[in-house]
Amino acid sequence: MKTDKPTILVVDDNSINIDLLLDILKGDYRFGVAKNGAKAFEYLEKNKPDLILLDVMMPEMDGFEVCKILKSDQRFNDIEIIFITALSDSKYIAQGFDMGAVDYITKPFKAAEVKARVSTHMSIKKMKESLNKQNVILEEQVKDKTAQLQEMFNATVCGMALMAETRDPYTAGHQHRVSQFACDIAIQMGLPDDQVESIRISGLLHDIGKIRIPVSLLNRPGKLLKAEWELIKMHPLVGYKILKNIPFPWPIADIVYQHHERIDGSGYPRGLTGKDILLEAKIMAVADVIEAISAHRPYRPALPIESALNEIKNQKGSLFDKAVVDSFLSGADILSKEYPPTPTPINDDDLIEEERNNPEKYSAIYPLRNSSVKN
Ligand SMILES: [Fe+2]
Repeated sequence: MKTDKPTILVVDDNSINIDLLLDILKGDYRFGVAKNGAKAFEYLEKNKPDLILLDVMMPEMDGFEVCKILKSDQRFNDIEIIFITALSDSKYIAQGFDMGAVDYITKPFKAAEVKARVSTHMSIKKMKESLNKQNVILEEQVKDKTAQLQEMFNATVCGMALMAETRDPYTAGHQHRVSQFACDIAIQMGLPDDQVESIRISGLLHDIGKIRIPVSLLNRPGKLLKAEWELIKMHPLVGYKILKNIPFPWPIADIVYQHHERIDGSGYPRGLTGKDILLEAKIMAVADVIEAISAHRPYRPALPIESALNEIKNQKGSLFDKAVVDSFLSGADILSKEYPPTPTPINDDDLIEEERNNPEKYSAIYPLRNSSVKN
C-alpha cells in the first residue's frame, strides 16, 4: 500500500541496533534495512529513501566509505545521511560532516534525541523540496515573462520601423533588409551574439529619423536642391534624438547617429573619422549602401548587385572600414540568402477602401476627403 510517510534506510551490521532504531522511530516512517554497504547499494538501486542512518564501524566497507560513494553518485548525493557512531571522538564526527553527512547520532541511543534529530532533518528536507519546487515555478514564470517582454520589445521595434517606412513606401522593408545584411556581416566577423543583437535592433531603426523629413522629399524623383539635401542629412540626428532616452542595453541611438559617417571624415552629420565611429555603425554603413544600391528608388531603378559590390570594393579603406568590407565580401552567401518577408507597410489603397466602405464613419473626420471619395 502506498503511503506518504518518509522512508529511512538504516545501515548497520548489528541487528540489535537496527531493531532499536526501528522501535524508536516506528509509526512515523517507513524503513529499509541493510546490514552492510553492499546491501545498502542494492537497496538504493530500487528505492530512494529520504534519509539514511549510517553506521560508521562496519566490516568490509565502513560508513565513511559508503558515504563517499553515495556523495559522488548523482543519483544518491541528495539523500541526507546521519552517521550512527559509538565514537565520541570529535575527529570522526568532523570527518563525517566533511564527507557530507548532515548530523550524527551516538550509541547508546537516547530515544528522544534520535526522534528529534531525525524529525528535524526530515522537516529541513521538506522545506528544501518546497523551496526547490517554488524556485522551479518562479524560474518558469520569469522565463515566460521574459519571452513575453522580448516579443513585445521586438514588436515595438518593428512598429517603430514601420512608422518611418509607412511615409516612404519606396523604402518599405529597407530597414529590415539592412538589419539582416548587417547581422550577417557581424556574424561573419565573429562578433558576440549580444553585439549582433544590438546591430539587429539598430538596423531596424537606423532610418527612423526620416519621419521628420517631408514625404515630398523622400519620394521625389530627380536631383535634390542643396537645402533639401541638408534636410535629408538631418535624419541621423533626428533618429538619435528619438532613441537616446530609451534605455536599450546597447548604444542604439549612437549607432543610428553614426550610420552615415565615413571613415575618411566625408560622411554626415558630424564628419567623424574612423577611430570615432562605432564598429556597429561601420557595419551599418556597408549594409545600408549595399541594400540601397540594389533596391528600387523613385529617382532610379534597382542597380545590379555588382554595382553595389564595386562601390564598396572601390571605397574600401577610404569610405568603408576595411575589415567590415572584407568580411562582407568573404561571406559569399550573404547576398544570395532568402531573407524573411518584411512586414507589409500600411497601404493607402486599403485606407481609402476602408473609408469608401464606411462613409458615415469617416465623413465627420475627413469631410473634404470623404466628399472627394464619393465623387
Ligand atoms: Fe539613413
